[in-house]
Amino acid sequence: MRYAHIVGWGRFLPNRILTNNDIAQMVDTSDEWIYSRTGIHQRRIADERETTATMAFEAAARALAVADMHPSQLELVIVATSTPEYIFPSTASRVQDYLGATRAGAFDLSAACSGFVYALNMASQAIVTGSVRNAVVIGSETMSRVVDWTDRGTCILFGDGAGAVVLKGSEVPGGLLAATMRSDGSGGDLLRLPAVYHNPVPTLGPEYLGNGHKDNTIAMHGRQVFRFASEVVQSSVEEVTKQANLALEDIDLIIPHQANGRILEHVAKKLKMPLEKFYSNVEWVGNTSAASIPIALSDAADAGRLQPDDNVILVGFGGGLTWASVAVKWDVTPPEVSTLDREWKRTRYIVARGRSRWRKWRRRAGARIGGSPTPDARLKDADKREQS
Ligand code: ACO
Repeated sequence: MRYAHIVGWGRFLPNRILTNNDIAQMVDTSDEWIYSRTGIHQRRIADERETTATMAFEAAARALAVADMHPSQLELVIVATSTPEYIFPSTASRVQDYLGATRAGAFDLSAACSGFVYALNMASQAIVTGSVRNAVVIGSETMSRVVDWTDRGTCILFGDGAGAVVLKGSEVPGGLLAATMRSDGSGGDLLRLPAVYHNPVPTLGPEYLGNGHKDNTIAMHGRQVFRFASEVVQSSVEEVTKQANLALEDIDLIIPHQANGRILEHVAKKLKMPLEKFYSNVEWVGNTSAASIPIALSDAADAGRLQPDDNVILVGFGGGLTWASVAVKWDVTPPEVSTLDREWKRTRYIVARGRSRWRKWRRRAGARIGGSPTPDARLKDADKREQS
């Protein structure tokens, strides 16, 4: 029997801080209104050079440093995101390239704010079945690029950032103990981020203008999302606790999706658990969608809130509607990673960039000099080789 253990974690937050007072300069709101309803004081905003992929890379590189793992050992990269720069190539493929994880498969997973927990479960299943030996699971979002900055009902909530964990297979019992995933598509309109299809399709005639979405910014029914979230977090936590053969009293820490401080207060009351058992950094980071749980997990681990033998629940909820939980037996003591060691290890990423550029250059040069043989010519060549 194999078990998937979390052996590394890391997070990346952009430097630029956007406070509630800054937002009050843009829309009719105030620090007092935002803080009292959401518990958020500030959030981070990516600069023009930062993307979902670059932030995901930074978080993954930190998680690999904690796991003391070389990227060439990695076998799977999953990025949970709703804000990819490209539908393809996937963000995960870009991260795989930036890391120089030359032996890893890579794909993105879309389940909105529940995406990281879904991805963690998928990676864990791949390890438990023996398909891969390890994986890096990342949540990364540039929400600032899909927020309508004139809508005071939504722009106050979101921020940018990335978090990652490294999972490793082992015969030692522990790690991910149980998982539950759910979806209710009938509530899809409560929380939406439309994709933009504006390419005219000639076969559909000149009047066809795509799916009619005017823009791709977030739309939300705040109150209904609040109600949905407080109901499913409670049921999901109860379900996964039971599946892991634990009682609520055995749970040392819950790391929920950092949507909103008030949702957490509400859920803590419903579960009759002290609020201190719910880890929260929403005050300083805001809602970073799929990135929020791994960022919070990294913060909690670095702050000493996760100790060996702790039973921890990660619970996500969001668009879809989707929700998911995993129960984890925390079994690592945070290693000391010195700045010197970390910076030295980063040279491998410079080498990876160089190798990636070289491969790109070789592909281009090959096409320019000899041209790529046509598929027909390739098949004929293969036939000839077989006959000789
Ligand atoms: N500043 C000042 N006034 C505001 C603001 C603002 N930023 N936003 C809305 N208002 C006003 C509204 O215009 C409305 O005014 P009116 O009564 O004159 O019409 C009034 O405040 C009440 O508006 P509601 O939208 O009903 O405000 P509510 O009390 O529900 O709070 C909030 C809004 C904070 C979004 C709340 O609904 C909430 O927390 N919902 C949960 C949603 C959530 O957390 N989403 C996270 C993203 S989804 C996810 O991650 C799962």
